[in-house]
Amino acid sequence: MNFYSQVKPIETRIPADRQRAKRHYGVHPYFTRRPYNVVREYVLRFSKEGDIVLDPFGGSGVTAIEALLENRLGIHNDINPLANFIATGIADLRFGSLEEYESALQFLKQECEHTLNKMHGMSEAELLEFKTISPNLFQFPENVPLPRTSDVKRYFDLFTLKQLGSLALLRKAIESIDSKLARRAMLLAWSATLAKLNKTFLSAEGRAESRGGSSVFSIYRYKVAKEPVELAPWETFFDRATNVLKAKAEIDQTIRLKKQTGGWHGGFQSYSEDVEQLACRLDNSVDYIFTDPPYGGHISYLDLSTIWNTWLGLTPSLSQRQSELIVGGELSLPEKEYVERLGRSVKACIKMLKRERWLSIVFQHWNISYFEAILNSAAEAGAELKAAISQVGDPVWSMHKKKNSSVLSGEMILTFQKNGVVRKTSHRGRFDISDALTQVLGEFRDEEVLGEYLFNRIVIEAWKKSAIHTLTFSRGEFLQLLSDAGLKYDQLSHKWVRDASQSQLSLSFSK
Ligand SMILES: C[S@@+](CC[C@H](N)C(=O)[O-])C[C@H]1O[C@@H](n2cnc3c(N)ncnc32)[C@H](O)[C@@H]1O
Repeated sequence: MNFYSQVKPIETRIPADRQRAKRHYGVHPYFTRRPYNVVREYVLRFSKEGDIVLDPFGGSGVTAIEALLENRLGIHNDINPLANFIATGIADLRFGSLEEYESALQFLKQECEHTLNKMHGMSEAELLEFKTISPNLFQFPENVPLPRTSDVKRYFDLFTLKQLGSLALLRKAIESIDSKLARRAMLLAWSATLAKLNKTFLSAEGRAESRGGSSVFSIYRYKVAKEPVELAPWETFFDRATNVLKAKAEIDQTIRLKKQTGGWHGGFQSYSEDVEQLACRLDNSVDYIFTDPPYGGHISYLDLSTIWNTWLGLTPSLSQRQSELIVGGELSLPEKEYVERLGRSVKACIKMLKRERWLSIVFQHWNISYFEAILNSAAEAGAELKAAISQVGDPVWSMHKKKNSSVLSGEMILTFQKNGVVRKTSHRGRFDISDALTQVLGEFRDEEVLGEYLFNRIVIEAWKKSAIHTLTFSRGEFLQLLSDAGLKYDQLSHKWVRDASQSQLSLSFSK
């Protein structure tokens, strides 16, 4: 019996820990970053040391970085240049000494702190005069147009002159750092600073002015603050750079510990390709894939990354933009194509896996045809669904629920094993959703249940009965079904609780 056939799939939800790892939290913001502890547990369960672990929709690199630190070869891929910049930037912190990075920060302090503080105190007129006498300090990127959904039209409209000037000054100073590694690390901190020194930065309510984030990460568009906050540029950068140094120290320490206990031989590679293209390169060579593809039209990653990609000189090509797996965006990418390509991407993932290896896909959406595309494609490509776990109920879930209770928050982790048995999917099954709900509720001892959990179970049960196509309800209709089943939505806990007035359900629910 080999390792892969003996693996027992993860059968329960892993509580998310988002903030503990300094290598992921606080270095650089990105969209829908996965909790590192969940990713790590999956990597440890489904692969072994020396294995190749891939995330083809890698985002900020959590999967490949955790794989690297756990003695695997982590392969990161993402069509978004910003994602690769962040992931490689963090992974490369394993090189060089902490002292080298610290002295780069000291160098920047000497070069920039005084001027930045002076600029921070200047009036608009004084700044303009300063710009006239020192034009070489004010080297700005191209004033590109912004996506249609933005509050403003062009790149420069996203900044005050002070913000643009401060970022330009810092950027120029970073270029003159001798050490290539330290220069990269400081550029990572600079890019994270860019997320704060612009007019889309919104301070978090009831916290220090500097706490908060850009609207691109919260409402997924360039919303400009009514009264933009002008954070002190040097302090903001110093904070970001300190976080990068903390991440480096943590990575060094993790590797040191590994070296003391059996040795460290992890590796990291990065690609920036469409996942179907990547499959030609990595055919039949990967031991484990953990990934979360884009969920339809929620987030246009490339559009929203314009603010970074433009100034970093990493503007994506038209063909990269056309292959982004999303619905809508500036190119108005059609939904039909998204569903087809989502299915083909899953097939591409399975093509990259060696036989008997495992694949975990994180996903959530009200549109059940998206799930259908994933599940059918996996079956048709010779992978068997072994577990479907709802990762719901953590603090981020509650926060989303507080904002909008009908939103589907959290996600499902679908885990498959490639066994080479191709299953033809059919549309012939029958499914009675009310019966299925009663059955699922009957399995519960608890008095309350998460709507997402019920939704996910219904989707999977219907798929197993070859009847996922019969689930045509809208989100409103699904919520109505829960009420009809005798459940009541509790606004405080955001859970569905047994409605005492519906005695029939109370029997089945507390079974
Ligand atoms: C949900 S995010 C992944 C976030 C990641 N799990 C993390 O922890 O940061 C999905 C990613 O898919 C990328 N993407 C979109 N279309 C792609 C394509 N065709 N090929 C590869 N990556 C793509 C996006 O740029 C985005 O970073």
